Amino acid sequence: MSIKATAVAPANIAFVKYWGARDLVRALPMNRSISMTLRECVTRTTVEHVSGEGADEVFVRTPDGPMAQAGGDFLRRAVEHLERIRSLYGCGGRFRMATENSFPSAAGLASSASGFAALSLAATRAVGVPLEPRELSRLARLSGSGSAARSAFGGYVEWPSGWTDDEDHASALDSAEGWDLRDVIALVELGEKPASSLEGHRRAVTSPHYAARQHELAARLDAVRDAIARRDLTALGPTIEEEAVELHLIAMSSRPPIFYWRPGTLVVLEAVRGLRERGVGAWATMDAGPNVHVICSPQDEEAVARHLATLPEVRRVIRDGVGPGPRLGAEHLF
Ligand code: DP6
Repeated sequence: MSIKATAVAPANIAFVKYWGARDLVRALPMNRSISMTLRECVTRTTVEHVSGEGADEVFVRTPDGPMAQAGGDFLRRAVEHLERIRSLYGCGGRFRMATENSFPSAAGLASSASGFAALSLAATRAVGVPLEPRELSRLARLSGSGSAARSAFGGYVEWPSGWTDDEDHASALDSAEGWDLRDVIALVELGEKPASSLEGHRRAVTSPHYAARQHELAARLDAVRDAIARRDLTALGPTIEEEAVELHLIAMSSRPPIFYWRPGTLVVLEAVRGLRERGVGAWATMDAGPNVHVICSPQDEEAVARHLATLPEVRRVIRDGVGPGPRLGAEHLF
């Protein structure tokens, strides 16, 4: 007998970043983080639970179209997570899974956050275990991709630092309907990044600026929470831009340093400042990669997207915005 389930789960962009961990295996962060769930950048994953012995099979949509057997780090992490689900929920058997992203996977656009949220939801449904969003958040986090904990919810999401048991999952601050914000993503580089987030977390604590960051974070978290509650973009914008620059300052001053920014990153940051000088309310944030997420209101989205697309350094612009949490899908991938 076999049961198949498909889940669609969103990526998210952090407004206050998870950077540095107390426990990297279980993804227990040093600090709280807050993110916005994305609507267009999603992962679709189908998982089938098959009775009997045998190895799990993992397929992934390749950039040129067809599904192919997964390999490398992705295969290892997916199989580890499937094994975790088998052991947590006491089900034997084996899994077959296929997955695809709606966005370029190697572009540092949090594909592991949406990927592990989708895998966790589809696999638990395939074994007949319905999870509450906070249980899904906890399970997705155990994959080792901490930001996946936030992809279990739609809208605006906070993930505590997990110092107590009831803090080891994220929760929603506001729904997507509560505040319509847009994220115009300027892709300046499509290749692999120079160091994984995992490596970045590991090195973060070696930066001489890391301790100072921890002191500043409580006030910054309050400011972001407050701006979301008041739906105040002019308060949110400068805070998230400052936060993103600080993440990169920590990365660049880690030992050894990591430079995620590329020349195109600086060009986009300059363009965003230029837009603001012309009265467009747009602010930039970047995760551990060179690409820039420009946060703005629906009224300014067109002007932002058009301007960024004229920059020769920008390879592609993705128009995204705040969106719902994970859901089950009727269309299976196999
Ligand atoms: C800079 O360990 O969750 O995006 O497994 O690559 O998704 P991946 O990374 P993870 O760290 C995320 C780091 C970050 C900031 C953030 O999303 O909070």
